[in-house]
Amino acid sequence: GQAAMVKICCIGSGYVGGPSMAVIALKCPAIEVAVVDVSRPRIDAWNSDRLPVLEPGLDAVVRACRGRNLSFSADVDRHVADADIVFVSVNTPTKARGLGAGRAADLAYWESAARVVAAASRSGKNKIVVEKSAVPVRTAEAMERMLLAHSGGGGATFQVLSNPEFFSEGTAVRDLLCPDRVLIGGRDTDAGRSAVRALRDVYAHWVPEDRIVTTSLCSAELSKLAANALLAQRVSSVNAISALCEATGADVSDVARAVGWDDRVGDGFLNAGVGFGGSSFQKDVLRLAYACECNGLPEAADYWRQVVAVNEYQKSRFVRRVVSSMFSTVAGKKVAVLGFAFKKGVGDTRESPAVDVCRGLLGDRAHVSVYDPAVSEKQIRRDTASPAAAKAQAHQQVLVARDAYEAAEGAHGLCVLTDWDEFRTLDYRRIFDGMQRPAFVFDGRGVVDVGKVREIGFVVYSVGKPLDPWLKGLPAVA
Ligand code: UDX
Ligand code: ADP
Repeated sequence: GQAAMVKICCIGSGYVGGPSMAVIALKCPAIEVAVVDVSRPRIDAWNSDRLPVLEPGLDAVVRACRGRNLSFSADVDRHVADADIVFVSVNTPTKARGLGAGRAADLAYWESAARVVAAASRSGKNKIVVEKSAVPVRTAEAMERMLLAHSGGGGATFQVLSNPEFFSEGTAVRDLLCPDRVLIGGRDTDAGRSAVRALRDVYAHWVPEDRIVTTSLCSAELSKLAANALLAQRVSSVNAISALCEATGADVSDVARAVGWDDRVGDGFLNAGVGFGGSSFQKDVLRLAYACECNGLPEAADYWRQVVAVNEYQKSRFVRRVVSSMFSTVAGKKVAVLGFAFKKGVGDTRESPAVDVCRGLLGDRAHVSVYDPAVSEKQIRRDTASPAAAKAQAHQQVLVARDAYEAAEGAHGLCVLTDWDEFRTLDYRRIFDGMQRPAFVFDGRGVVDVGKVREIGFVVYSVGKPLDPWLKGLPAVA
């Protein structure tokens, strides 16, 4: 029947569920949106002035809707039973052990959420269940089966849709308000099509109709993995080119610009650097490879795994470059690290290349002095702590600085590992004056003006740029 007031419930109030539901509530005042979570502290945070997710503009959106048509609650069962549309947006971390360890998704949270939905069939209210978490291909089908198994007794009926989220961290609200596209996967049956239409109607409140794309369930699921894999692949491709640039004297930014002029290639997402990070890329590439493997496609699996392998190569290549430049020894030397987050604008360090670079330098017994405008000292210490090294010693080896100048004071070398804008405009003369001689800059993000900094007196390495004469013919480290 035509419900007067649509009720939406979202299971999981994390990075994806929170912002995406807040934007739906903002744009659809006639829809009641309840975001539920098993974590009480998370829910309390959503109901406070300090939201658990930091995204520019999110505070304002939540403030505008909370208490109006947006609520956050730990009463999962009640809100799920009440809802017409249930989004499932729980975490699906990578399995740490067991089958597919390190590659496959851990679906334990997802299954527990699916069971809550299934139990709600007793409420008798028909539901559309929307998968929003990044899940393996064909998970929606598994969801259908579970729901069917539970509702066999003639309770509510369910239609499962897949509606993956594509926003980037740091621009979540902007991306949600103005998405490139909204993807909805569903069954090609009457009930399936009508469910797709219902979800389309929600997004149509603010997204132009031609940007709402519908596909089959499994195409939608695969598209999410494929999108991230292709983006990661671009970064690894340009990074592989950067290695050849250094070996031949070409400049990777010129090559990327020249290549990007071709509309078929496009000019975005071709910045060479110290490697990609973030919570999605590596995870989704490995998930895609795992799906290939499980479907008897080892060559396709190998192809995608290579995207991650090049990323690892790029990080270790950077560390080797730092060590070999500094006379093949960094033991006891202070190395400043500017930037620890996986990209500018965020305080997130998940899979950040800076973590691996720091660990590599610490492994060679360097003293690392880290500055990042958005990452806490606690986080930096947690990420750099190695279980092997004695705690006290590790503490001595890692300093956390309040600004770039403090980080660089007395250092032999300086590594730029995040593309924060403020690193472009530092007073490199002042930094140089405070450093040891020879003073090295290792730019892993292409933010330093190589010519200017070289003129000051630095020995400069910038990923994919023609090598400083100093760096040529040094004994290599393996
Ligand atoms: C990504 C996707 O962009 C987004 O669509 C998806 O929903 C989630 O994953 P995010 O992880 O927030 O978003 O970061 P993104 O901006 O894509 O950057 C990922 C990593 O790639 C960063 O470490 C970044 O520094 C690196 N990168 C990006 C490059 O090294 N070069 C580039 O040209 C672009
Ligand atoms: P994502 O980045 O995918 O949004 P997060 O880890 O940020 O992932 O958030 C997922 C949220 O889902 C967490 O707050 C977690 O407590 C919640 N969650 C996990 N399982 C359930 C469940 N069965 N019911 C309700 N909430 C759940």
